Amino acid sequence: MSTGSKRDGFSSTLAALMVALGSAVGLGNIWKFPYMTGTGGGGAFLVIYLFFVFCVAVPIMISEFVIGRRSRMNAVGAFRKLTGNPRTPWSGIGFLGAVSSYLIMFFYSCVAGWVYCYTFKAATGVFADITKEGAGAMFASTIGVGGADASFFSSTVLAPIFWQILVLVVVGTIISLGVARGIERAIKFMMPALFVLLIICVVRALTLPGAGDGLRFLFHVDFKQVTPGVILAAMGLAFFKLSLGMGTMITYGSYFTDDADLSVAPLKIAIADICISMLAGLAIFPTVFSFGVEPGAGPGLLFITIPLVFSQMPFGQVLLFAFFLLTAFAANGAMLSLVEVPTIWMSEEFNISRKKSALINCVIIGAVGILAAGSADGSGYFGGITIFGRGFFDLFDYLSSNVTMPVGGLCIAVFTGYVMKRGDLFDELSNHGMLRNECRAGFIRVLLRYVTPVLVMVIFLNALGIIKI
Ligand code: TRP
Repeated sequence: MSTGSKRDGFSSTLAALMVALGSAVGLGNIWKFPYMTGTGGGGAFLVIYLFFVFCVAVPIMISEFVIGRRSRMNAVGAFRKLTGNPRTPWSGIGFLGAVSSYLIMFFYSCVAGWVYCYTFKAATGVFADITKEGAGAMFASTIGVGGADASFFSSTVLAPIFWQILVLVVVGTIISLGVARGIERAIKFMMPALFVLLIICVVRALTLPGAGDGLRFLFHVDFKQVTPGVILAAMGLAFFKLSLGMGTMITYGSYFTDDADLSVAPLKIAIADICISMLAGLAIFPTVFSFGVEPGAGPGLLFITIPLVFSQMPFGQVLLFAFFLLTAFAANGAMLSLVEVPTIWMSEEFNISRKKSALINCVIIGAVGILAAGSADGSGYFGGITIFGRGFFDLFDYLSSNVTMPVGGLCIAVFTGYVMKRGDLFDELSNHGMLRNECRAGFIRVLLRYVTPVLVMVIFLNALGIIKI
């Protein structure tokens, strides 16, 4: 462990905030949030999701920042340093985090590949005047539907893999350039642009005929359809969305400046993130209802509706291209933070260069990720193989969001709530007494001891059918 090595830091609190936001904002907002809200039944899912963001995710993000900045280490080293025990079992959270990071990257790089592919296709103008059926067929061909009947070397099977590998080459290259230089620059410019483009989408979607039904779907709360599985999925989404429970935010916390207020930064990040997700929802659901797409269509929802939003609209094809390009940027920002976890860990732990570590990790992700690229649809090349009744794509997604991240988050909350001394937590939250926020710190500690971990446990046991709420 190279404890004394100089770490690459961020230049200001605002930069650190933007970078944490760059990790949070990604395909989770634009792809996953809308489709899960669709399959989860609309408004009720939204309400449950928001509840988890504020009662579970925000306190855990505060914990991660505290652990990261106090130790100024990666997720494994952080626990060793804070407990003063090089063999502490808490460092298992760091290992679990690396596992989550791999699981997510296996399918995330695949979906990012679809986005790259759509960006390319949009540039060629193939989406002009597209119909609902055409959009469905385009998505099916992008993800390799029917690959099971084709040879491995056919374009049906290889195209999604090609795009996925391209994604990994881009991400791997940026990550080997180093934190401050590589990440900071791209994200500062991309975030506002994405925001503006989403607003254009929303305006267009809301003026489509029948848009009102989409709003009704998104805001009508009906808890009747809510099952324990839906509740677990909403909690999993909160973890996934805010990049929690796996050490990403510990690593980013370690780059925060000494004067940043760690008790409010997570709240700002969560609110900004929700705004972006809601904009995506407001662009997608009116379109879904206007064109008669099935709201519970699943992972294809974004890719089917967005080309429809921009069809038959002035400058529609240019805007569509810009939309997917910016989505690709957002996905890249999030992936940088995902690959960062195993990269920095491997390089500090085994004393290898950052470049070498980034390369090794991208190769691992590519090698296994191919399984996800071939199983996004049951008829894909690897679609026939199921484990616990799920194909690889689903399995990677399910295990990360619903098992490894919540378990990691639970441990992190317990660590800051129970293991870390009260004085140490208060000291870090108040920037060594510079901020007068004892009341707030006390409240956060109560959440971390009695609310967040209890909620996570209850939702788990409920989903397993052991208790019933
Ligand atoms: N939050 C990102 C998104 O919504 C995904 C992500 C990036 C992530 N880094 C993470 C999820 C770390 C969990 C952990 O797209």
